[in-house]
Amino acid sequence: MKPQDSALREEIARLKKEKNALIMAHYYQRDEIQEIADFIGDSLALARKAAETDADIIVMCGVHFMGETAKILCPDKKVLVPDLAAGCSLADSCDPEEFARFVKEHPGYTVISYVNTSAAVKALTDIVVTSGNARKIVESLPADEKIIFGPDKNLGGYINSVSNREMLLWPGACHVHDRFSLEKIQQMKKEHPGAKILVHPECRRPLQLIADKVGSTAALLDFARTDEAQEYIVVTESGILFEMRRECPSKTFLAAPAEDSECQCNECDYMKLNTLAKVAAALRDEQPEILVDPEVAARAVKPIERMLELSK
Ligand code: 13P
Ligand code: SF4
Repeated sequence: MKPQDSALREEIARLKKEKNALIMAHYYQRDEIQEIADFIGDSLALARKAAETDADIIVMCGVHFMGETAKILCPDKKVLVPDLAAGCSLADSCDPEEFARFVKEHPGYTVISYVNTSAAVKALTDIVVTSGNARKIVESLPADEKIIFGPDKNLGGYINSVSNREMLLWPGACHVHDRFSLEKIQQMKKEHPGAKILVHPECRRPLQLIADKVGSTAALLDFARTDEAQEYIVVTESGILFEMRRECPSKTFLAAPAEDSECQCNECDYMKLNTLAKVAAALRDEQPEILVDPEVAARAVKPIERMLELSK
């Protein structure tokens, strides 16, 4: 731990108590943020926890859409995201006006949107899903239901293949997951033949096909926790290795390499924008706050609540 971190941790603990705040963190957050969080989870668990907390302030250590989802579910609470620039390339790949046109061109279709979307896109949606419940929710609909699925083409393609559906896919993708290299992971597997391959469904199809387990961050963690193997190649944002190593200290977790050695493609630069100093400042100043237009929120809350209902 850096010496300045201990003063920040103390300040965060004091302010949190004083202000009845809850610090939530996604598994892709920096290690030191996961260490101080009251609750760590995947997108589904974060939404569920936000819906039930009695805290006055939620500090959402994740990206903007996660804060927005919490605010939509708890309009009376103050929701802070330590760095408002923490966006999401996948959410950005779905412009609300273009999506509205696409939906209009396909009357009679049920619109399913991944939680990695703006509130404006959720407001155009019938059911929101996360990678943790997308399959269950799609399979709960009649087999002949016409469905638009956005914005992640890789997750949508995965659900189409495992659930035998033909959902229309919006062509969006995440800049981290869409760039993992099949060849590099196959090479890694040659070097570690006993390692199992864990893949997030936002990765491309060839990677899904070589996986021992495809799942959300929480599902991959759960698999590692209960599986008998000792070594894993983890094909998702590398922040998750912190919790995997904490929960399974005797196992080895290898981060899947980036597509190109020049860049840290297995890190989400948006997720890493949040720091301990920014968490302390957010608690101190009660800024930056997530605000959602109440009319948009009133429409966006319905498909989120539907998701929470259907994934019970
Ligand atoms: P999870 O829902 O699996 O936590 O994933 C969120 C995300 O942003 C993946 O890139
Ligand atoms: Fe968005 Fe990708 Fe970052 Fe997840 S990893 S928050 S999908 S940019």
